[in-house]
Amino acid sequence: MNERDAEIMAQSLTGDGYLAGDSFEQADLVIINTCSVRAKAEQKVMSLLGFLRKIKASRPDMRLCVAGCVAQQEGARIIERMPHVDLVIGTQHIYRIAELPEAARLGGQRTVIDLQDNYQIPRFLPQSHKRLPAPVRPFRKFVTIMQGCNNFCTYCVVPYTRGREVSRKAKDIVDEVNVLVESGVVEITLLGQNVNSYGRTNRVDAENPEYGFADLLGEVAEMSGLKRLRFTTSHPKDLSDALIRCFADIPKLCPQLHLPVQAGSDRVLRIMNRHYTVADYLEKVNKLREACPAIALTTDIIVGFPGETEADFSGTMDLLDQVRFHGSFSFKYSDRPGTRACHLADKVDETVKAERLARFQARQDALSLERNREYVGTVREVLVEEVTSSGARGRTGTNHLVHFQDTLPCRPGDLVNARIAHAGQHSLQGRLAEKQES
Ligand code: 5AD
Ligand code: SF4
Repeated sequence: MNERDAEIMAQSLTGDGYLAGDSFEQADLVIINTCSVRAKAEQKVMSLLGFLRKIKASRPDMRLCVAGCVAQQEGARIIERMPHVDLVIGTQHIYRIAELPEAARLGGQRTVIDLQDNYQIPRFLPQSHKRLPAPVRPFRKFVTIMQGCNNFCTYCVVPYTRGREVSRKAKDIVDEVNVLVESGVVEITLLGQNVNSYGRTNRVDAENPEYGFADLLGEVAEMSGLKRLRFTTSHPKDLSDALIRCFADIPKLCPQLHLPVQAGSDRVLRIMNRHYTVADYLEKVNKLREACPAIALTTDIIVGFPGETEADFSGTMDLLDQVRFHGSFSFKYSDRPGTRACHLADKVDETVKAERLARFQARQDALSLERNREYVGTVREVLVEEVTSSGARGRTGTNHLVHFQDTLPCRPGDLVNARIAHAGQHSLQGRLAEKQES
């Protein structure tokens, strides 16, 4: 999400005559696009701002802007505490970035942070990449389909920093994907905090009030020229049967799903306000694997949520073994301002959190290796990302990185077949193969 937001700001500024710079030292305008989902991300922003204070002291004309979730959360406090920051711009105002630095320079508003109730994602079409030479032409792109979240998981700051859920109009999304595909993009990832509830809070198709995410996937997949389609992120409670069927019915939809479970204890899931049980989650996993046996599942896990006991944590470890995720992202719980979990008693000791995280990650590493070994000897379709004089690398539909041991007569963006020869924990190694055999 942040990557796409940064790209939107870059596109707006380029359209306004700015050029991308290579270093802080030469830039006239520096924008820090921030994340505040966990405490660590926010700490990184603060230390980068400290570093930029020194650069700005020697280059007072440089404009410094803080955008994104930390900007939304801290707002005017950043300006008060850090006089070297010229502009603080909240999550819903990034589309206005081109006009704001100049306004701030002329003594205008230095903070633009409000979350609006009737927010509409502006119709935003990226520039065409047709004029770029083939090797630098982007072939894989993110497309934002919604903003915000209404779920209020008790640990999560997102509903406070990104506001209420708003879906973008289906036609705007389809038009944007069309422009990208016509300019050579072959893989699209549809983005939202909870894509499964796309269209539920505001009408996205003028003719069809029932239009939902499965409809959008079907419509986007119809575009000839598009080879691969992915989406992220999904909330398990909203993963509908219609969406699960898409994995069986839409060949372009990659056999890969990130489905954050967060914990393997019903008690903890309830306090997290997740609205599903471990059994519900496992049922969805079974349905997904029935619809698409090749699907690779990944997840997010929080360890050390307030009150998490050793028994609760064992539930998480058991779930890991039951599902055998292809990969996972795991985090120590951290308090986020304004969330309900912040006020819960029984905070788990940092050393206990660290020890549980290490146990979880060691088991996941072993599982990832086992999973990766299942691909050895098979032939997989790979979208080439980079070609060098000594080899190439790309990704399978399951989102596994494949390193080629031979040089390929191809360019980034091409689809080739690879016979998988070796598996490591984080990637596969393969050789170019003649045709798809499995
Ligand atoms: N502490 C730790 N991890 C968190 N996440 C969200 N909020 C917190 C928090 N307060 C994790 C969740 C989410 C991912 C993006 O970040 O696992 O899925
Ligand atoms: Fe946060 Fe929960 Fe919304 Fe995901 S679904 S963004 S974890 S509140």
